[in-house]
Amino acid sequence: MSEKVVPYAYEHPGSPTSVAWAKVPREPGAAEKPELIARIKRMLKEQDAVLVAHYYVHADLQDLAEATGGIVSDSLDMANFGHRHPAKTIVVAGVRFMGETAKILNPEKRVLMPDLKAECSLDLGCPADEFSAFCDAHPDCTVVVYANTSAAVKARADWMVTSSIALPVVKHLKEQGRKVLWAPDRHLGGYVQEQTGADMLLWQGSCIVHDEYKAKELIELKAKHPHAKVLAHPESPRAIVQLADMVGSTTQLIKAAQSLDAREFIVATDNGIMHKMRTLCPDKVFLEAPTAGVGATCTSCSHCPWMAMNGLLNLAEVLETGKNEIHVDPAIIPRAVLPIERMLAFARQINLPTRGIGNA
Ligand code: 13P
Ligand code: SF4
Repeated sequence: MSEKVVPYAYEHPGSPTSVAWAKVPREPGAAEKPELIARIKRMLKEQDAVLVAHYYVHADLQDLAEATGGIVSDSLDMANFGHRHPAKTIVVAGVRFMGETAKILNPEKRVLMPDLKAECSLDLGCPADEFSAFCDAHPDCTVVVYANTSAAVKARADWMVTSSIALPVVKHLKEQGRKVLWAPDRHLGGYVQEQTGADMLLWQGSCIVHDEYKAKELIELKAKHPHAKVLAHPESPRAIVQLADMVGSTTQLIKAAQSLDAREFIVATDNGIMHKMRTLCPDKVFLEAPTAGVGATCTSCSHCPWMAMNGLLNLAEVLETGKNEIHVDPAIIPRAVLPIERMLAFARQINLPTRGIGNA
Protein backbone atom coordinates (compact mmCIF):
# COMPACT_ATOMS: atom_id res chain seq x y z
CA MET A 1 0.00 0.00 0.00
CA SER A 2 1.36 3.43 -0.87
CA GLU A 3 1.64 6.55 1.26
CA LYS A 4 -1.59 7.98 2.68
CA VAL A 5 -2.21 11.67 2.28
CA VAL A 6 -4.46 14.70 2.61
CA PRO A 7 -6.61 14.55 5.70
CA TYR A 8 -9.58 16.81 5.07
CA ALA A 9 -12.43 17.63 7.41
CA TYR A 10 -15.70 16.92 5.67
CA GLU A 11 -18.01 19.12 7.72
CA HIS A 12 -18.13 22.27 5.67
CA PRO A 13 -18.74 25.53 7.52
CA GLY A 14 -20.83 26.97 4.68
CA SER A 15 -23.05 23.93 4.26
CA PRO A 16 -23.57 22.13 7.57
CA THR A 17 -26.11 19.36 7.52
CA SER A 18 -28.35 21.36 9.88
CA VAL A 19 -28.91 23.86 7.05
CA ALA A 20 -29.83 21.03 4.71
CA TRP A 21 -32.30 19.54 7.20
CA ALA A 22 -33.84 22.95 7.77
CA LYS A 23 -34.48 23.21 4.05
CA VAL A 24 -36.19 19.85 3.58
CA PRO A 25 -39.43 20.79 1.80
CA ARG A 26 -42.76 20.29 3.47
CA GLU A 27 -44.43 16.99 2.66
CA PRO A 28 -47.60 17.75 0.69
CA GLY A 29 -50.78 16.44 2.30
CA ALA A 30 -52.74 13.55 0.80
CA ALA A 31 -55.41 15.94 -0.48
CA GLU A 32 -53.02 18.21 -2.41
CA LYS A 33 -50.71 15.50 -3.76
CA PRO A 34 -52.72 14.26 -6.78
CA GLU A 35 -53.19 17.79 -8.15
CA LEU A 36 -49.54 18.63 -7.51
CA ILE A 37 -48.33 15.50 -9.30
CA ALA A 38 -50.68 16.15 -12.22
CA ARG A 39 -49.37 19.73 -12.49
CA ILE A 40 -45.74 18.56 -12.48
CA LYS A 41 -46.51 15.98 -15.18
CA ARG A 42 -48.16 18.67 -17.29
CA MET A 43 -45.23 21.07 -16.88
CA LEU A 44 -42.66 18.38 -17.71
CA LYS A 45 -44.52 17.72 -20.96
CA GLU A 46 -45.08 21.37 -21.88
CA GLN A 47 -41.43 22.22 -21.24
CA ASP A 48 -40.01 19.15 -23.01
CA ALA A 49 -38.35 18.21 -19.73
CA VAL A 50 -37.26 14.84 -18.37
CA LEU A 51 -36.93 13.99 -14.67
CA VAL A 52 -33.80 12.07 -13.68
CA ALA A 53 -33.80 10.96 -10.04
CA HIS A 54 -31.46 9.14 -7.70
CA TYR A 55 -32.58 6.16 -5.59
CA TYR A 56 -31.96 8.18 -2.41
CA VAL A 57 -34.56 10.89 -3.07
CA HIS A 58 -38.14 10.83 -1.81
CA ALA A 59 -40.19 7.87 -3.11
CA ASP A 60 -42.70 10.26 -4.72
CA LEU A 61 -39.98 11.70 -6.94
CA GLN A 62 -38.66 8.26 -7.84
CA ASP A 63 -42.13 7.13 -8.89
CA LEU A 64 -42.80 10.35 -10.76
CA ALA A 65 -39.54 10.08 -12.72
CA GLU A 66 -40.46 6.61 -13.91
CA ALA A 67 -44.10 7.49 -14.60
CA THR A 68 -43.07 10.35 -16.89
CA GLY A 69 -40.45 8.63 -19.04
CA GLY A 70 -37.45 9.63 -16.92
CA ILE A 71 -35.45 7.35 -14.69
CA VAL A 72 -34.50 6.61 -11.15
CA SER A 73 -31.02 5.15 -10.97
CA ASP A 74 -27.39 5.38 -9.84
CA SER A 75 -24.96 8.18 -10.74
CA LEU A 76 -23.53 6.46 -13.81
CA ASP A 77 -26.91 5.73 -15.31
CA MET A 78 -28.17 9.23 -14.47
CA ALA A 79 -25.26 10.76 -16.41
CA ASN A 80 -25.67 8.39 -19.32
CA PHE A 81 -29.44 8.72 -19.56
CA GLY A 82 -29.49 12.53 -19.48
CA HIS A 83 -26.77 12.53 -22.13
CA ARG A 84 -28.71 10.36 -24.57
CA HIS A 85 -32.19 11.76 -23.94
CA PRO A 86 -33.56 14.24 -26.50
CA ALA A 87 -35.44 16.46 -23.99
CA LYS A 88 -34.50 20.16 -23.98
CA THR A 89 -34.55 20.35 -20.18
CA ILE A 90 -33.13 17.84 -17.71
CA VAL A 91 -34.48 18.07 -14.17
CA VAL A 92 -32.11 16.37 -11.74
CA ALA A 93 -33.54 15.22 -8.42
CA GLY A 94 -30.40 14.42 -6.51
CA VAL A 95 -27.39 16.42 -5.38
CA ARG A 96 -25.43 19.17 -7.03
CA PHE A 97 -22.64 17.14 -8.59
CA MET A 98 -25.30 15.13 -10.46
CA GLY A 99 -26.79 18.33 -11.89
CA GLU A 100 -23.34 19.59 -12.81
CA THR A 101 -22.46 16.33 -14.55
CA ALA A 102 -25.68 16.60 -16.58
CA LYS A 103 -24.80 20.19 -17.53
CA ILE A 104 -21.20 19.33 -18.46
CA LEU A 105 -22.44 16.56 -20.75
CA ASN A 106 -25.25 18.72 -22.17
CA PRO A 107 -24.10 22.36 -22.14
CA GLU A 108 -26.78 23.30 -24.67
CA LYS A 109 -29.58 22.03 -22.44
CA ARG A 110 -31.26 23.63 -19.47
CA VAL A 111 -30.56 21.66 -16.29
CA LEU A 112 -32.77 22.38 -13.28
CA MET A 113 -32.66 21.10 -9.71
CA PRO A 114 -35.29 21.37 -6.95
CA ASP A 115 -32.61 22.91 -4.68
CA LEU A 116 -29.17 24.04 -5.82
CA LYS A 117 -27.85 23.84 -2.27
CA ALA A 118 -28.17 20.05 -2.22
CA GLU A 119 -24.50 19.32 -1.64
CA CYS A 120 -22.45 16.21 -0.90
CA SER A 121 -19.82 15.86 1.84
CA LEU A 122 -17.39 14.28 -0.61
CA ASP A 123 -17.65 17.23 -2.98
CA LEU A 124 -17.40 19.76 -0.10
CA GLY A 125 -14.38 17.96 1.31
CA CYS A 126 -12.37 18.27 -1.88
CA PRO A 127 -11.88 21.96 -2.78
CA ALA A 128 -10.51 22.44 -6.29
CA ASP A 129 -7.48 24.56 -5.33
CA GLU A 130 -6.22 22.10 -2.70
CA PHE A 131 -6.92 19.19 -4.97
CA SER A 132 -5.04 20.83 -7.80
CA ALA A 133 -2.01 21.37 -5.53
CA PHE A 134 -2.19 17.68 -4.57
CA CYS A 135 -2.16 16.71 -8.26
CA ASP A 136 0.74 19.08 -8.94
CA ALA A 137 2.72 17.38 -6.18
CA HIS A 138 2.24 13.97 -7.85
CA PRO A 139 2.69 14.49 -11.57
CA ASP A 140 3.52 10.80 -12.11
CA CYS A 141 -0.05 9.72 -11.23
CA THR A 142 -3.13 9.18 -13.35
CA VAL A 143 -5.83 11.25 -11.66
CA VAL A 144 -9.10 9.38 -11.02
CA VAL A 145 -11.94 11.24 -9.34
CA TYR A 146 -15.26 9.99 -8.11
CA ALA A 147 -18.39 11.50 -9.66
CA ASN A 148 -19.11 13.15 -6.28
CA THR A 149 -16.87 16.16 -7.04
CA SER A 150 -17.21 19.66 -8.44
CA ALA A 151 -16.80 20.51 -12.12
CA ALA A 152 -13.48 22.20 -11.31
CA VAL A 153 -12.12 19.03 -9.69
CA LYS A 154 -13.28 16.95 -12.65
CA ALA A 155 -11.48 19.39 -14.92
CA ARG A 156 -8.22 18.42 -13.19
CA ALA A 157 -8.80 14.68 -13.65
CA ASP A 158 -7.90 12.10 -16.28
CA TRP A 159 -10.84 9.85 -15.40
CA MET A 160 -14.13 10.24 -13.60
CA VAL A 161 -15.67 7.08 -12.16
CA THR A 162 -18.80 6.16 -10.25
CA SER A 163 -19.06 3.30 -7.78
CA SER A 164 -20.34 0.96 -10.49
CA ILE A 165 -17.27 1.34 -12.70
CA ALA A 166 -14.43 2.25 -10.32
CA LEU A 167 -13.04 -1.29 -10.10
CA PRO A 168 -12.74 -2.01 -13.86
CA VAL A 169 -11.25 1.43 -14.54
CA VAL A 170 -8.55 1.13 -11.87
CA LYS A 171 -7.84 -2.47 -12.86
CA HIS A 172 -7.35 -1.25 -16.44
CA LEU A 173 -4.95 1.48 -15.26
CA LYS A 174 -3.01 -1.00 -13.14
CA GLU A 175 -2.60 -3.28 -16.14
CA GLN A 176 -1.09 -0.31 -17.96
CA GLY A 177 1.39 0.12 -15.11
CA ARG A 178 -0.14 3.41 -13.99
CA LYS A 179 0.01 4.79 -10.46
CA VAL A 180 -3.34 6.30 -9.41
CA LEU A 181 -4.14 9.47 -7.50
CA TRP A 182 -7.66 8.91 -6.16
CA ALA A 183 -10.16 11.40 -4.71
CA PRO A 184 -12.16 12.06 -2.69
CA ASP A 185 -13.68 9.02 -0.91
CA ARG A 186 -11.12 7.20 1.20
CA HIS A 187 -13.34 4.18 1.84
CA LEU A 188 -14.17 3.56 -1.80
CA GLY A 189 -10.53 4.29 -2.69
CA GLY A 190 -9.31 1.81 -0.07
CA TYR A 191 -11.75 -0.82 -1.32
CA VAL A 192 -10.63 -0.33 -4.93
CA GLN A 193 -6.99 -0.48 -3.82
CA GLU A 194 -7.55 -3.77 -2.00
CA GLN A 195 -9.54 -5.35 -4.79
CA THR A 196 -7.21 -4.36 -7.63
CA GLY A 197 -3.82 -4.22 -5.89
CA ALA A 198 -3.20 -0.92 -7.71
CA ASP A 199 -0.69 1.61 -6.43
CA MET A 200 -2.95 4.43 -5.20
CA LEU A 201 -2.67 7.71 -3.33
CA LEU A 202 -5.89 8.45 -1.51
CA TRP A 203 -7.54 11.77 -0.68
CA GLN A 204 -9.13 11.38 2.76
CA GLY A 205 -12.74 12.44 2.20
CA SER A 206 -15.79 10.49 3.25
CA CYS A 207 -19.56 10.37 3.00
CA ILE A 208 -21.27 11.52 6.18
CA VAL A 209 -24.03 8.95 5.73
CA HIS A 210 -21.97 5.83 5.00
CA ASP A 211 -19.26 6.78 7.49
CA GLU A 212 -21.72 6.17 10.32
CA TYR A 213 -22.35 2.45 9.83
CA LYS A 214 -20.95 0.54 12.79
CA ALA A 215 -19.39 -2.92 12.52
CA LYS A 216 -19.99 -4.06 16.11
CA GLU A 217 -23.70 -3.27 15.91
CA LEU A 218 -23.89 -4.85 12.47
CA ILE A 219 -22.40 -8.09 13.83
CA GLU A 220 -25.03 -8.01 16.60
CA LEU A 221 -27.82 -7.47 14.07
CA LYS A 222 -26.49 -10.31 11.92
CA ALA A 223 -26.56 -12.57 14.97
CA LYS A 224 -30.25 -11.75 15.43
CA HIS A 225 -30.92 -12.40 11.72
CA PRO A 226 -28.52 -15.25 10.92
CA HIS A 227 -29.93 -15.84 7.42
CA ALA A 228 -29.86 -12.18 6.35
CA LYS A 229 -27.44 -11.13 3.64
CA VAL A 230 -25.60 -7.81 3.98
CA LEU A 231 -25.62 -5.37 1.06
CA ALA A 232 -23.09 -2.52 1.37
CA HIS A 233 -22.21 0.52 -0.69
CA PRO A 234 -18.42 0.83 -1.00
CA GLU A 235 -18.51 4.32 0.56
CA SER A 236 -19.00 2.42 3.83
CA PRO A 237 -16.02 1.87 6.16
CA ARG A 238 -13.79 -1.17 5.53
CA ALA A 239 -15.11 -3.08 8.57
CA ILE A 240 -18.65 -2.88 7.11
CA VAL A 241 -17.56 -3.86 3.61
CA GLN A 242 -15.76 -6.89 5.06
CA LEU A 243 -19.02 -8.07 6.59
CA ALA A 244 -20.95 -7.68 3.34
CA ASP A 245 -22.20 -10.42 1.03
CA MET A 246 -22.41 -7.93 -1.82
CA VAL A 247 -20.59 -4.62 -2.30
CA GLY A 248 -21.64 -2.34 -5.14
CA SER A 249 -23.30 0.77 -6.50
CA THR A 250 -26.92 1.47 -5.67
CA THR A 251 -28.10 -0.24 -8.85
CA GLN A 252 -25.85 -3.24 -8.21
CA LEU A 253 -27.21 -3.56 -4.65
CA ILE A 254 -30.82 -3.53 -5.88
CA LYS A 255 -29.99 -6.20 -8.45
CA ALA A 256 -28.38 -8.26 -5.67
CA ALA A 257 -31.52 -7.92 -3.55
CA GLN A 258 -33.46 -9.37 -6.47
CA SER A 259 -31.07 -12.17 -7.35
CA LEU A 260 -29.57 -13.38 -4.07
CA ASP A 261 -31.21 -16.37 -2.51
CA ALA A 262 -32.26 -14.82 0.81
CA ARG A 263 -35.45 -13.52 2.35
CA GLU A 264 -33.82 -10.96 4.64
CA PHE A 265 -31.27 -8.26 3.85
CA ILE A 266 -29.36 -5.75 5.95
CA VAL A 267 -28.70 -2.68 3.84
CA ALA A 268 -25.69 -0.40 4.43
CA THR A 269 -26.58 2.52 2.23
CA ASP A 270 -29.01 5.47 2.29
CA ASN A 271 -32.48 4.23 3.22
CA GLY A 272 -34.04 5.98 0.21
CA ILE A 273 -33.01 2.84 -1.69
CA MET A 274 -35.50 0.75 0.32
CA HIS A 275 -38.36 2.09 -1.78
CA LYS A 276 -37.08 0.39 -4.93
CA MET A 277 -35.96 -2.73 -3.08
CA ARG A 278 -39.34 -3.21 -1.39
CA THR A 279 -41.26 -2.47 -4.60
CA LEU A 280 -39.26 -5.00 -6.60
CA CYS A 281 -39.06 -7.64 -3.85
CA PRO A 282 -42.31 -7.39 -1.86
CA ASP A 283 -41.74 -10.79 -0.24
CA LYS A 284 -38.31 -9.92 1.13
CA VAL A 285 -37.47 -8.05 4.32
CA PHE A 286 -35.01 -5.12 4.29
CA LEU A 287 -33.40 -3.86 7.49
CA GLU A 288 -31.24 -0.76 7.86
CA ALA A 289 -27.63 -1.34 8.87
CA PRO A 290 -27.04 0.24 12.31
CA THR A 291 -25.55 3.72 12.58
CA ALA A 292 -24.16 5.50 15.59
CA GLY A 293 -27.46 7.29 16.10
CA VAL A 294 -27.23 10.00 18.76
CA GLY A 295 -23.75 11.52 18.76
CA ALA A 296 -23.11 10.64 15.13
CA THR A 297 -21.63 13.24 12.82
CA CYS A 298 -24.61 12.73 10.58
CA THR A 299 -27.74 12.71 12.69
CA SER A 300 -29.68 11.56 9.68
CA CYS A 301 -29.14 7.87 10.44
CA SER A 302 -28.97 6.34 7.01
CA HIS A 303 -30.42 9.23 5.08
CA CYS A 304 -28.54 11.91 3.18
CA PRO A 305 -29.65 15.37 4.35
CA TRP A 306 -28.89 16.86 0.94
CA MET A 307 -30.85 14.22 -0.98
CA ALA A 308 -33.72 14.95 1.40
CA MET A 309 -33.86 18.53 0.09
CA ASN A 310 -35.65 17.29 -3.04
CA GLY A 311 -39.44 17.21 -2.85
CA LEU A 312 -42.60 17.54 -4.92
CA LEU A 313 -43.20 21.14 -3.83
CA ASN A 314 -39.81 22.55 -4.79
CA LEU A 315 -39.83 20.47 -7.97
CA ALA A 316 -43.12 22.11 -8.98
CA GLU A 317 -41.71 25.51 -8.08
CA VAL A 318 -38.62 25.22 -10.28
CA LEU A 319 -40.71 24.09 -13.23
CA GLU A 320 -43.08 27.02 -12.69
CA THR A 321 -40.41 29.67 -12.27
CA GLY A 322 -37.40 28.27 -14.16
CA LYS A 323 -35.28 29.11 -11.12
CA ASN A 324 -32.53 26.84 -9.84
CA GLU A 325 -30.85 26.35 -13.17
CA ILE A 326 -27.42 24.75 -12.94
CA HIS A 327 -24.63 26.82 -14.46
CA VAL A 328 -21.11 25.53 -14.94
CA ASP A 329 -18.37 27.93 -15.97
CA PRO A 330 -18.20 27.52 -19.79
CA ALA A 331 -14.42 27.81 -19.58
CA ILE A 332 -14.31 24.66 -17.43
CA ILE A 333 -16.71 22.47 -19.44
CA PRO A 334 -14.39 21.46 -22.33
CA ARG A 335 -11.85 20.13 -19.81
CA ALA A 336 -14.34 18.67 -17.30
CA VAL A 337 -16.18 16.70 -19.97
CA LEU A 338 -13.07 14.67 -20.91
CA PRO A 339 -12.87 12.39 -17.83
CA ILE A 340 -16.64 11.82 -17.98
CA GLU A 341 -16.62 10.96 -21.68
CA ARG A 342 -13.66 8.68 -21.07
CA MET A 343 -15.64 6.78 -18.42
CA LEU A 344 -18.76 6.49 -20.60
CA ALA A 345 -16.68 5.25 -23.56
CA PHE A 346 -14.94 2.70 -21.32
CA ALA A 347 -18.31 1.50 -19.99
CA ARG A 348 -19.40 0.87 -23.60
CA GLN A 349 -16.08 -0.81 -24.43
CA ILE A 350 -16.37 -3.32 -21.58
CA ASN A 351 -20.14 -3.69 -22.06
CA LEU A 352 -20.84 -2.58 -18.52
CA PRO A 353 -24.60 -2.52 -18.07
CA THR A 354 -25.34 1.12 -17.29
CA ARG A 355 -29.13 0.87 -17.25
CA GLY A 356 -30.78 0.75 -13.88
CA ILE A 357 -33.67 -1.39 -12.81
CA GLY A 358 -36.76 0.36 -14.12
CA ASN A 359 -40.15 -0.89 -13.08
CA ALA A 360 -39.35 -4.50 -13.87
P1 13P B 1 -24.23 5.48 -6.76
O1 13P B 1 -23.44 5.90 -7.95
O2 13P B 1 -23.92 4.07 -6.34
O3 13P B 1 -25.68 5.70 -6.99
O4 13P B 1 -23.78 6.37 -5.51
C1 13P B 1 -23.97 7.74 -5.43
C2 13P B 1 -23.85 8.25 -4.06
O5 13P B 1 -23.81 9.42 -3.82
C3 13P B 1 -23.77 7.28 -2.99
O6 13P B 1 -23.75 7.92 -1.77
FE1 SF4 C 1 -22.75 12.52 -0.90
FE2 SF4 C 1 -23.05 10.66 0.94
FE3 SF4 C 1 -25.13 12.15 0.24
FE4 SF4 C 1 -24.11 10.28 -1.48
S1 SF4 C 1 -25.12 9.91 0.50
S2 SF4 C 1 -24.72 12.38 -1.97
S3 SF4 C 1 -21.93 10.45 -1.00
S4 SF4 C 1 -23.26 12.87 1.26
